[in-house]
Amino acid sequence: AKVTYVEHNGKEHTIDVAEGLTLMEGAVKNMVPGIDADCGGACACATCMIYVPEEWLAKIPGKEDMEETMLDFCEHTQANSRLSCQIKVTPELDGIRVSLPESQH
Ligand code: FES
Repeated sequence: AKVTYVEHNGKEHTIDVAEGLTLMEGAVKNMVPGIDADCGGACACATCMIYVPEEWLAKIPGKEDMEETMLDFCEHTQANSRLSCQIKVTPELDGIRVSLPESQH
């Protein structure tokens, strides 16, 4: 699925991310700056936060408690924040655009 990551400065990276990978893995493997993912995807660091537009949020499974808790630690959390390591790429997400925060923490 094609995923577009938009950096805080507006720079876009469109990447074909294989199904089954997470949005975090798609960014990290392709050197998209802005996602640190210190814990490697264990939902334990909250440095892989992204903003997901409303229309796409509806196509992504909801947050588990753990993700919710971790997001509370992020300084830049907004209502549409998600942890990118908790979102698996599916064919339905083809064309998704997500925004990256100015900084993680
Ligand atoms: Fe650590 Fe997502 S990579 S919480």
